Amino acid sequence: MNRADFDMICKLLREQSGLVLMADKAYLLESRLLPVARKWKLATFDDLAKALRIGADTALVRDIVQAMTTNETFFFRDGRPFDQIRDFILPALLKNRAANRRIRIWSAACSSGQEPYSVAILLTDIAEALAGWKVEIVASDLSGEMLARAIEGTYSQFEVQRGLPIARLVKHFRQLGDRWQINEQIRGMVRYREFNLLDDPSSLGRFDLVLCRNVLMYLDHETRSKVLDGIAGQMAPDGFLFLGGAETVLGLTDRLQPIDGQRAVYAPVVSAPAAIAAAG
Ligand SMILES: C[S@@+](CC[C@H](N)C(=O)[O-])C[C@H]1O[C@@H](n2cnc3c(N)ncnc32)[C@H](O)[C@@H]1O
Repeated sequence: MNRADFDMICKLLREQSGLVLMADKAYLLESRLLPVARKWKLATFDDLAKALRIGADTALVRDIVQAMTTNETFFFRDGRPFDQIRDFILPALLKNRAANRRIRIWSAACSSGQEPYSVAILLTDIAEALAGWKVEIVASDLSGEMLARAIEGTYSQFEVQRGLPIARLVKHFRQLGDRWQINEQIRGMVRYREFNLLDDPSSLGRFDLVLCRNVLMYLDHETRSKVLDGIAGQMAPDGFLFLGGAETVLGLTDRLQPIDGQRAVYAPVVSAPAAIAAAG
């Protein structure tokens, strides 16, 4: 691959998804994009680059972006955030939302669905306390392919073995040949939407809890700031944001701050009038 083709595709990826690719990742570009070239009946990577130069089909651009994103995920990923949701976030929301009995949760880069389904499973543990409440989980990703997998909710043995305790597997999944499908009740708790974090999130509404984990790490500094500001704008003044363990808001936005004693959890920086309104 020549340098001009590498730069052109990096620019496209950055514009479309915020993804930054270092020059030493040229091999990754070729290996991941060769199957895309084949799908589009282009014989080589050079032909793919040529097709992009003469004005690419938007579906081809989408295939390229999807091929380059990392979709790694698993149930109850990193463990601790889900303990924090169970022990700290949900009790706080049950208390703070007792008046309107409504909670909205956003899994903002949900990949194949393990993250929002893990949250949904936690909610079933406190089903009694939530009787009469309206709890909505919105899960989004830019990849239509990942969303289709998430909606189907069917996972391989390997995928369910990663992070999912056997008791939860037996309780919430049914076996379909060598795969496992999460049951309809849990699937019905999550509403999926195709959404690019680079876009304006205001149409998604306001959220009490946002999980935006393990996606900022792939984006450039400027895009991280923009995404975090966008998320902050969609959070209730007393809402919570989880980032991945390797991610932070520090140096990226002044609209969010870490919560003392809660690793990877952030809260909006609330102006005095908003704080009074939230308390009232
Ligand atoms: C590594 S996965 C993380 C999944 C899950 N949040 C977790 O922590 O296990 C990153 C996901 O971010 C998605 N993604 C990457 N760039 C995005 C963007 N600009 N907008 C929305 N989703 C994006 C990818 O498609 C991928 O599914």
